[in-house]
Amino acid sequence: MVLIPSALLALLSSTALALPQPTTDSKPALCLSDSEANSISKSWLAIWDTGYLTKKSQLKNLVTKDVLSFDGTYGPPTVGLDALYAAATYVDPLVTNVLQYPETAIHNCDTISVRWGYSAVSTSNAPNVPAGTPIFLEGIEILQVELSSRLIFNATSSADWVLLATQLGETVNL
Ligand SMILES: *[C@@H]1O[C@H](CO)[C@@H](O)[C@H](O)[C@H]1NC(C)=O
Repeated sequence: MVLIPSALLALLSSTALALPQPTTDSKPALCLSDSEANSISKSWLAIWDTGYLTKKSQLKNLVTKDVLSFDGTYGPPTVGLDALYAAATYVDPLVTNVLQYPETAIHNCDTISVRWGYSAVSTSNAPNVPAGTPIFLEGIEILQVELSSRLIFNATSSADWVLLATQLGETVNL
């Protein structure tokens, strides 16, 4: 360690902005690799699985604290990690064993588009189908990733939720 006399220290702090910055700070963040895009897709989809999320800290390595999550079926976007946690831990009483997983993903530098599958089974709370009936639907997700942190800051989802309702014997008026 180098001891710096306090007068010099004061001078250094007053001129801190003029000091050369380490070159690593000015390196542009790398674009997403295929394996990162796949693993981010997989981790994002898994948060909707039955029983997967049990604490908010699980989201901290996946999304920014101000993350936006859009799904037109369910109204306005959720804003922020807390709201996302609440949405992702909501338990639909009509289904269980929910699994959401990527089928295929494509990406550019910072945005991932992923086609996914959803499988589940109906519970005995679904009045119009026998308990244990297999449920399946598909959807698409667009995930925007903050390159500096590799965290998702904007997610837009569109899915065949109407098929979920019809598979559960509900009437959907289109
Ligand atoms: C997030 O995505 C939505 C589309 O679903 C878009 O309208 C909005 O501008 C995006 N927000 C940001 C900050 O990129």
